[in-house]
Amino acid sequence: STKAVILVGGPSRGTRFRPLSLDVPKPLFEVAGHPIIWHCLAAVAAVGSIQDVNIIGYYDETVFRDFIKDATKEFPNLSSIKYLREYEALGTAGGLYHFRDAILKGRPDRLFVLNADVCCSFPLGEMLKLFDDKDAEAVILGTRVSDDAATNFGCIVSDAHTRRVLHYVEKPESRISNLINCGVYLFATEAIFPSIKSAIKRRTDRPARLVSYPSSDNLETFHPASSGLNDDDDEERKNQVIRLEQDILGDMADSKQFFVYETKDFWRQIKTAGSAVPANALYLQRAWQAGSEELAKPSANLVAPVFIHPTAEIHPTAKLGPNVSIGPRAVIGAGARVKESIVLEDCEIKHDACVLYSIIGWGSRVGAWARVEGTPTPVGSHSTSIVKNGVKVQSITILGKDCGVGDEVRVQNCVCLPYKELKRDVANEVIM
Ligand code: GDD
Ligand code: GTP
Repeated sequence: STKAVILVGGPSRGTRFRPLSLDVPKPLFEVAGHPIIWHCLAAVAAVGSIQDVNIIGYYDETVFRDFIKDATKEFPNLSSIKYLREYEALGTAGGLYHFRDAILKGRPDRLFVLNADVCCSFPLGEMLKLFDDKDAEAVILGTRVSDDAATNFGCIVSDAHTRRVLHYVEKPESRISNLINCGVYLFATEAIFPSIKSAIKRRTDRPARLVSYPSSDNLETFHPASSGLNDDDDEERKNQVIRLEQDILGDMADSKQFFVYETKDFWRQIKTAGSAVPANALYLQRAWQAGSEELAKPSANLVAPVFIHPTAEIHPTAKLGPNVSIGPRAVIGAGARVKESIVLEDCEIKHDACVLYSIIGWGSRVGAWARVEGTPTPVGSHSTSIVKNGVKVQSITILGKDCGVGDEVRVQNCVCLPYKELKRDVANEVIM
């Protein structure tokens, strides 16, 4: 059988997702009407043959409780969805290893591992097929990005014909390939757990001090007790961190039947808060193409795709879309215009206001004739910052929770922390 693990990280991660992650853990932030992690889970459920999913992270035990309760009802073929909490960050492979008994229960022969912070079509069925066709031990999902963007990701060198992974380098310093790691893997359980085990062994065998010491010739005269350093504990802790990307995948390329499935479909990373806007757009477009019943019906004032929560109130003269999500109890006034944006629950957008390429945080108010806007990022760009007048600014404008924008005020390319009142025009600023 096949199981799945979704890696969610923890509260010390997602710092680039601020200010939105101040109020909700990033995996639960909603894009296209559902939490980010829901999109991963829906893909796992769609495979059909997977029944068992473990969400691994170091968020508090209670964080995913309600989400899991709802998901269990919504995806009845997933008979077990469990959250496994790391006592501290163990790295992308450390958690897998720590919870190996739970994961291996029922003797699954294959394991999907998904990074929760990516937005893609998750072609898991295709990955399974490649795995079978090649009699593989590991399959990684890859996508092509621009040469400039590639070094921000794990880079894959593969044989164009056989699709075998020849080399893997995590965030290389210089360009080696523009085929990158999407953060979605399928492993034979018989291959992944022994690989992690040998990575741990290599690490324990290696004299811990060697790395930080200038020359190994000096080792004999080196006495930790007299070094004045007291980082034994730290050293120990770091040793527990095992990362798939740095410690496992490179080795797999050398020694295992390791293949890459290259997706031509959409793929984006969800790191910065601004990246929720393209992720929202991509998931909405996909739902629209699939004929989803959840989306609003197009009309003269509604350009698809748009998601409107059933409890939101939209004035008939307001114009929405494309690529807009409106959260629970939000109120959109007469003549307002909302495009390429996320409006979260309990927001109010007053009459004739305009919201473009922005995220309006929970309970925020945008005044009459106000204008809150970001700038579209170029197609294919994997960055959410742009250079304006020689300065790097956020392309997406983000208002944190409970912000207020006064009537007729214009807010451009700003990130605004929670509880701020904007009474005059602002541009290209972080408002703290
Ligand atoms: N449980 C757990 N424990 N999860 C973790 C931990 C940890 O200690 N550390 C990270 N994660 C989760 C994150 O929440 C995220 O879903 C995923 O693992 C990877 O996060 P990072 O370690 O921050 O890596 P990255 O996002 O910079 O890069 C990874 O993803 C890229 C694709 O988005 C790498 O796999 C790259 O090679 C890849 O291109
Ligand atoms: P569409 O015609 O709607 O597809 O938009 P566009 O691509 O022509 O223009 P743009 O992206 O600049 O603006 C999006 C929409 O917002 C436009 O239709 C404008 O009419 C509307 N808009 C621009 N500024 C304001 C404003 O201050 N208030 C309101 N209510 N609407 C505005």
